[in-house]
Formats: sequence, structure tokens, C-alpha cells
Amino acid sequence: MLTDEEQMLRESVSRFATEVVGPKVREMDEQEMMDPEIIRGLFEQGLMGIETPADLGGAESSFTSAIIAIEELAKVDPSVSVLCDVHNTLVNTIFRKYATKEQQEKWLPQLSENKLGSFCLSEPASGSDAFALQTRAKKDGSDWVINGSKMWITNSYEAEIFLIFANVDPSKGYKGITCFVATKDMGIQIAKKEQKLGIRASSTCTLNFDDLRVPEENVIGQVGQGYKIAIEILNEGRVGIAAQMVGLAQGAFAKAVPYTYERKQFGQPIGTFQAMQHQIAAAATEIETARLLTYNAARRKENGLSFTKEAAMAKWWASVVAQKVSGAAIEWAGGVGFTRETGIEKYWRDSKIGAIYEGTSNIQLNTIAKFIQKEYS
Ligand code: CAA
Repeated sequence: MLTDEEQMLRESVSRFATEVVGPKVREMDEQEMMDPEIIRGLFEQGLMGIETPADLGGAESSFTSAIIAIEELAKVDPSVSVLCDVHNTLVNTIFRKYATKEQQEKWLPQLSENKLGSFCLSEPASGSDAFALQTRAKKDGSDWVINGSKMWITNSYEAEIFLIFANVDPSKGYKGITCFVATKDMGIQIAKKEQKLGIRASSTCTLNFDDLRVPEENVIGQVGQGYKIAIEILNEGRVGIAAQMVGLAQGAFAKAVPYTYERKQFGQPIGTFQAMQHQIAAAATEIETARLLTYNAARRKENGLSFTKEAAMAKWWASVVAQKVSGAAIEWAGGVGFTRETGIEKYWRDSKIGAIYEGTSNIQLNTIAKFIQKEYS
């Protein structure tokens, strides 16, 4: 059950997504570029500080509100959705949970008002094995000097505020990983913008840090606690990606199903053949199961209950459903679905990333399996 506030948010985000994002989706996908007006619009709509306290410029809403916004945006464009998702569930949340009061007062108002954030963890040699990262930070006087590279970093082309994970003492293994905040103008180099199969308007870049100097006060949380920050935040982020995949599946469904009632073959609308009706009914049910898993994980998190297993289940299952439903939607719309005219094929291309980022499907299943083993052995 959504609260009145969450329901109102759903309606207003849906309006923004349909009226403002909708007309730009195809062009942004073709050009592989996010329209800056869309990013500005997200800030103006109050969608870039959803859980941030009001006195720091945010909307002070619930985690479920963020999940609803991500879902609604994804119905129209999963690229815009992930931009909003990473900014809210990863970047803002790290500041809210781990930053000092002074750091929150410095960074959160900017992140609510007009500066996009980016979360920099993955590297060429450390994706699933995230804690094997090679980026290093060395103390020099009262500064830290960061050297290394990050890869596949969402939002990084447009971002101005970067949370960077670097190891300050590799002899301690992952217990040397530390979280730093840096701004683009400190010298972060965008080395390469990837060309991708899907979510093409969402930027994904390689970043280089070449003696990037950050002051001591830019350490977020404790030195050596960065690994805990990264993975605890990813537990929340995974609920966001689940919401993105639920919205994506619903968006593809909503585009293809009406077509099946218009398109006639053998003298009747194709959607009224029983073989089609059953596929459509099964897809609607699968979307609902993914949505319920996602909301359940979000509500558990909000209520201070354990939610790591539930987040992994939601993310894994929602990405399976998104790929399945968007693939079926192309087939329901036949030749038309295979063209770029309707945008249905784009949902399927966009769905593939759901099984990859913020922990692959295998990592989610590993996490779920660890809980099962603990419970039953
Ligand atoms: N929640 C909380 N803590 C966890 C955890 C979880 N889900 N998984 C592991 N940990 C903790 C353990 O408790 C342990 O901590 P302590 O030493 O303090 O006890 C520590 O992490 C190491 O645990 P393991 O030995 O079990 O972990 P591992 O080395 O086998 O793998 C992992 C750990 C890197 C977290 C891996 O499970 C994982 O999740 N990999 C995926 C990484 C990922 O999600 N990357 C996303 C990149 S960012 C992104 O995608 C954003 C975007 O673009 C949209």
C-alpha cells in the first residue's frame, strides 16, 4: 500500500516522464546523449534529493518514494531512470548515512539543487570482485593523492560530484578501501565514453585519476571502511535497479498490449487469441511479482528490518522479468515491434543491463544462497 504522498509522487513523476521525457526518448537513444534539459527538469521536480532532509534542500520523503520515482521514470525511459536512481540511492544515501554534519551541509544541498553525482567503484579488473580494486590513495601532508582508473561509471559524463573508492593500504586487503568525495574540477579525467547496447542516453565512462589531490576533509566515513560503505549502499541500490526493471517491463507491456487489440489477423484482434491472452496474463502476473518483491524490500529497509536477501531477490527477479516481458512485447507487436518506430525494441535492449550492474545476477544468487545456507545448515 502506498501512502497518499507516495501516490501523489507517482502521479507527478508519471506526468513529467510522459510529457517531458517521452518526446525526447528516441532522439536521446539515437544520439547516445542525455538532454541537459531532462537533468535540469529532474532537479526542478525535486527528484534529485528525494530522501534528503528538507533543511538540506531535499524532499525528505521515504525510500519507497525514491523507488516509485525510479519505476515511473523507467516506464518511459530506463536511461533517465538510472540517472535518477544512482544519484539518489547511491550518492545521496552515502552522504546521508556516512558523512559528517559538516560534509552533509556542504554536499547535500548541491546534490539536491543542480549537481549530478556519480559512484565510482568498478575497475577494469574488479567488477564482481569489487573489493580487489586497484585505485590507490596515498597520504601527502594533509591531503590524499589518488591514482588509478575506474570503468563503466554511470552518470560520469555529466556528473560534477564523484564518490571514489580507493585503497589506502593494500596490505590490509579490502579493509584498506576508503571512500573519497571529489569534484570534476579537481582534475578527474573522463577518458572514454562507452557505446552501449542499451540505456544509451545514460553515460558510462572510464575515468582516470592522475595524482588527484583531495583534502583530508573529503574522506567519507572512516578510513578503511569504504568497502562496508560500498556494499551496504549497493544493497539499497539494488532495490532501485529492481524498480527500474519493474518500470521497464511495465513500459514495454503498456506499449505492446494495446497494439494486440488493434492488429487483426485471421479476422480477429491478435490479442484475443487464447495463445496470446495466456502470454499476456502470465507477463502481467510476473511483473506484479517483481513489483511486490521490490516494494517488500523497500518497506523492510524503511522499517529497519534486514533486507539484503530481499533486495537481491528483487533485483535478480525483476531483471529476469524485464528481459522476458520486453522480449515477448517485441514478438507480440511482430514486425512493428522489431522496428525502432514504436520504441518497444529499446526496452529489450535496455533490459540487458539489469542482469549486470549493481551486482550481476550470479552475485545476487550468491547472496541469496548464502542466506539460505545460513538458515538451513
Ligand atoms: N551486504 C553487507 N555486507 C556484505 C555484503 C552485503 N550484501 N556482501 C559482503 N559483505 C561484507 C561481508 O560481511 C564482509 O565484511 P567483514 O569483513 O566486515 O565481515 C565483506 O563484505 C567481504 O565479504 P565476502 O568475503 O563474503 O565478500 P566477497 O569478497 O566474496 O564479495 C562483494 C563481496 C564484492 C560485495 C560481492 O559480493 C559483490 O556484491 N559484487 C558485486 C559488486 C557490485 O555490485 N558492483 C556494482 C558496481 S556500481 C554500479 O553498478 C552502479 C551503476 O553503474 C548503476
